[in-house]
Amino acid sequence: MMFPITREQALELLKKYDQTESDMNHYLESEAIMRGLAEKFGEDTDYWGMLGLLHDVDWALTRDNWAEHTIKAEEILREAGFDDEFIEVVQSHGYGYNEILMLKEKQRSKKVEHALAAAETMTGIIHAYALMRGKKISDMEVKGLKKKFKDKSFAANCNRDLIRKIEETELDINEFFQISIDALKKIKEDIGLE
Ligand SMILES: [Fe+2]
Repeated sequence: MMFPITREQALELLKKYDQTESDMNHYLESEAIMRGLAEKFGEDTDYWGMLGLLHDVDWALTRDNWAEHTIKAEEILREAGFDDEFIEVVQSHGYGYNEILMLKEKQRSKKVEHALAAAETMTGIIHAYALMRGKKISDMEVKGLKKKFKDKSFAANCNRDLIRKIEETELDINEFFQISIDALKKIKEDIGLE
């Protein structure tokens, strides 16, 4: 697919809003994991990466009003020139949330939809674990991450069920941990990790 905007322009679009550092990290991390998954699946890495980067494009506007989250994104993405298919995948990460009335009853079905929901949730656990390790990610291993995954009190707001749903894509969860760690290692300087 030809994108209506470049990655640079997508970053500018995000920076137009009042972003916190941790939110920017989350977008970049989601992008990196989505690229890793696309590579694994033989899908379009730029397309999957762009979905990760922009999935929360309206977050800065909706963080205090969850009912609008992913709804506002439609407007923003349409104005930027993205098509229905792209917008639908972005919105699919809001499916099932009670707060978003319009999407509450919807269910993710496509591989890319499960991947996005799992990837964006995974960022939270890995980042928190890296911070716990003194920001160090370069020597992070699946074994340690798995322990944190199993400890429900750790990064408790990261929904483990969404992460487990990666198996709907037929990817083994351990492989998903590895792909995710590797993806974030590659961009460690950009997300304040070492
Ligand atoms: Fe997100």
